[in-house]
Amino acid sequence: MAELNTVKVKVPATSANCGPGFDCLGLAVTVYNELEMTLLEENKLLIESTGEGAESIPTDDKNIVWKSARMVLERSGFGHKFKGAIIKMNNNVPMSRGLGSSAAAIVAGLVAANEIIGKPFNKQDLLKFATEIEGHPDNVAPALFGGFTVSVVDNKGAVQTFSFLPKLKLKMIVAVPDFQLSTRTARQVLPANVPLKDAIFNISRASMLIAALIQGKENFLSCAFDDALHQPYRKELVPGMNEVFDAAKKSDAIGVALSGAGPCLIAFSPMHKHIENNIATEMVQTFKQHGVQSSAMILDLDTKGATVLN
Ligand code: HSE
Repeated sequence: MAELNTVKVKVPATSANCGPGFDCLGLAVTVYNELEMTLLEENKLLIESTGEGAESIPTDDKNIVWKSARMVLERSGFGHKFKGAIIKMNNNVPMSRGLGSSAAAIVAGLVAANEIIGKPFNKQDLLKFATEIEGHPDNVAPALFGGFTVSVVDNKGAVQTFSFLPKLKLKMIVAVPDFQLSTRTARQVLPANVPLKDAIFNISRASMLIAALIQGKENFLSCAFDDALHQPYRKELVPGMNEVFDAAKKSDAIGVALSGAGPCLIAFSPMHKHIENNIATEMVQTFKQHGVQSSAMILDLDTKGATVLN
């Protein structure tokens, strides 16, 4: 029987921005990290990981899962009771590739610790904590809630997230390059200000994207995944980015985008067309022509977000 202070959670990978929704749109996909956490009264920390990035995950108090769990413990007044933990994780979300590996770790730590101490915080509270740690809500929101998410941070820093399941069922095809790109590097190349025409470009497309997805209007999506705020500046960091986009579109992808801050590239295709395998092949081949080895993942939308398994 599982110990009382032990919990298992499963958290999905996420793709932020979805093209025009820089720092506000996101979606959860069907690849997961699993984590088992036992909280200890003694000051002892044991962290084990298998799977993606296992060799580079810190096993001391710099570990992001443990830092996030500590936030829950301290803010709930349990910080003095539980000073240590045993954390075992099995990660399937590729690290530093634009699929929300840090968001998955943060959400896993928050949800697991919150569950063990009797859920003093609701999902809204956990969203606020996660955004505080991550700096922006667009990965942590879908990791927590699942589905497509629209997130807004108000002037006081409060976060509101609307999570929905599109009427139009989509397949997500993700080309995962064999190199990592830190979000920090990918944010450094962005300008502090953008022209008004670029802002209008994105506002119109982000609005169209959400409306068309909710109503299932495939014919309104043809330019709805396009972006002028971040992708043009980041293309230098991902060799072949525009060519991979073109290859996916030639294979009838309905939209293409940099996944989060990259370097993964994501293409969208309506499920009923069954063209996802072809799109995946074209994306990987085109990356290769530009000197980038990659592998493809064909994913569905995760509809639940973080779940407690026991
Ligand atoms: N919105 C973020 C960015 C996602 O594009 O920088 C990456 O964490």
